Amino acid sequence: MNSLLDVDRLVAGYYTPTGVLVTVTGVTFNIERGEIFAVVGESGCGKTTLAAAIYRILKYPGKVFHGSITLDGKDLLQMSEDEVREVRMKKISYVPQYAMDALDPVTKVGDFMRRALAEHGYPSDNMDELILEKLKLMRLPERVINMYPMELSGG
Ligand SMILES: Nc1ncnc2c1ncn2[C@@H]1O[C@H](COP(=O)(O)OP(=O)(O)OP(=O)(O)O)[C@@H](O)[C@H]1O
Ligand SMILES: [Mg+2]
Repeated sequence: MNSLLDVDRLVAGYYTPTGVLVTVTGVTFNIERGEIFAVVGESGCGKTTLAAAIYRILKYPGKVFHGSITLDGKDLLQMSEDEVREVRMKKISYVPQYAMDALDPVTKVGDFMRRALAEHGYPSDNMDELILEKLKLMRLPERVINMYPMELSGG
């Protein structure tokens, strides 16, 4: 059986005014189902670049130059934007280091959830019910719907 995530000889980096900066220099690893896997390294060694490549959000001047990223048997780097949207949040998620900067501070939590659910094709009619259900799953109170991201902890 395939690994859940298979990163093979991945080379990624950035175009800079002084040339190409390669920060992910041929990285290979597999993550099995149920496995907890950590990438550790000094600041600037390329951890975020690696994560961005895997989540397919590494955009110009960033670029994957070589290698493959296989998720559940499918090559992520060959997927169309629509196909990637299908796997994002469902099979793979990215929690940024500075969540407070990544989320629009004037959008309420409920609206973020509504948008995410709509993006994933949930019908709008029973959306409120669904949001309450999801909050319950996370053991968060109902009033979170009307709170702003900064009113919750980063994690
Ligand atoms: N947009 C960019 N253009 C040029 N170089 C970049 C860009 N973004 C990051 N880099 C460089 O790529 C290298 C890797 O950065 P990256 O953010 O992946 O490191 P990191 O391991 O996540 O660091 P930290 O632990 O500080 O989060 C660094 O040298 C950084 O300066
Ligand atoms: Mg980082």
